[in-house]
Amino acid sequence: MGKIQFPEGFIWGCATSSYQIEGGVHEDGRGETIWDRYCSIPGNVANGENGDVASDHFHRYREDVALMKRMGMKAYRFSIAWSRILPAGYGEVNEKGIQFYSNLIDELLAAGIEPYVTLYHWDLPQALQDRGGWTNPQMAEYFLEFGRICIDRFGDRVKKWITLNEPYCAAFLGYYEGRQAPGYHDFSAAVSAAYHMYVGHGLVVKYFRESGKGGEIGIALNLMGRLPFSEKPEDVEAAKRADGYLNRWFIEPIMLGKYPQDMIDFYTSQGVVLPKFQKEELELMSQPLDFIGLNYYNDFHVKYSEKVWPLQFVIENLPHSVVNDRNWPVTEMGFKRMMKRMKEEYGVGNIVVTENGTSFHDVVSGNYEVKDYARLDYLERHIRVLHETIEEGVNVSAYFVWSFYDNFEWSFGYNSRFGIVYVDFKTQERIVKESGHWYSQVIERNGLEV
Ligand code: FCB
Repeated sequence: MGKIQFPEGFIWGCATSSYQIEGGVHEDGRGETIWDRYCSIPGNVANGENGDVASDHFHRYREDVALMKRMGMKAYRFSIAWSRILPAGYGEVNEKGIQFYSNLIDELLAAGIEPYVTLYHWDLPQALQDRGGWTNPQMAEYFLEFGRICIDRFGDRVKKWITLNEPYCAAFLGYYEGRQAPGYHDFSAAVSAAYHMYVGHGLVVKYFRESGKGGEIGIALNLMGRLPFSEKPEDVEAAKRADGYLNRWFIEPIMLGKYPQDMIDFYTSQGVVLPKFQKEELELMSQPLDFIGLNYYNDFHVKYSEKVWPLQFVIENLPHSVVNDRNWPVTEMGFKRMMKRMKEEYGVGNIVVTENGTSFHDVVSGNYEVKDYARLDYLERHIRVLHETIEEGVNVSAYFVWSFYDNFEWSFGYNSRFGIVYVDFKTQERIVKESGHWYSQVIERNGLEV
């Protein structure tokens, strides 16, 4: 048996987000969010489900933290619901909301678990959506207000901050594909939303530096390979475009202070209305960060299609791909390629893997066990490749499994389970899955036995 040993001090953790786990949506003065509203519209979410109860974390956070501790977690990534802190999106602070997160943070620290806090994981206060949501340039200032309160109130204890989670999804799935809140279908609006998110990100980073609170700040991007389905030139071009759409449009403003020119030209040629890129705003966006969060699930193959405006491509799996219950292929070598690219092409000096995991229809056996070997295999492949990547000189400081436990998986509702802990949504009972037991061993050994 060989041993795969991670560098000393490597941080192992798990991740969640507020709307996906908390429930308690009407409690302690929380304001409505765009996800509450989106879920209330029939047809948006599988089986008409919503996050009203979710994993009931709002009431069970103590028990949840105790379980994380038993599992050996060194760190926990969660997000703060903007509408618990500022029910109207801005203005009056809701002290009960502050108290909830303050208690959670204290509980984590007492358990020896370091909090990694995401400010925006998609649950915008509905009151701000009523003012145009992220298409409104003023939203950047509102985000600063929210970020400032969180940094001021929690920054004595929280030393790891993530401004935005997957701005690509928040903008393009929310405002263009309509598969997420607020459920619009307007490509230009999505581009504008993404731009204002980045201005907001920049303002918060600047405030954080000036606050003198100390600690680290970064952003979590879903960067994943887009490969041509065939060698046909139109598929090769389509893959480059897909990469520009998903990856380069998001990493380049952050690392290089500019948007990719080929995509600007392409969007313009298609009649997409682009924001007026301002020099000072591009400078704000590209302030140095302490780490880049990588959310990695899988690469996809891309095929040219003239039917899709404006992107002109579709995603198609290669025949015989091994896939999960969402039809996502398992592509761990793509994970390595992306981390290397982040370092080599964009000069990222510190990567935090802020999400990695997979969804399967888990089954609880008669003796209350969940033998999720396919998930375990997925995680093992990715952790092995992560180790290789570190050995090859890429600096990665932490790894977070998505997710700690099963939760409300957006438009897929409760049917798509990503947890390494099973949640019975009828009783709220938690059962550590086989992958969860295995992960605890990885943490304990700071590596793997192979
Ligand atoms: C990511 C999201 C996260 C979760 C996983 C499966 O895109 O950041 O909230 O839904 O996918």
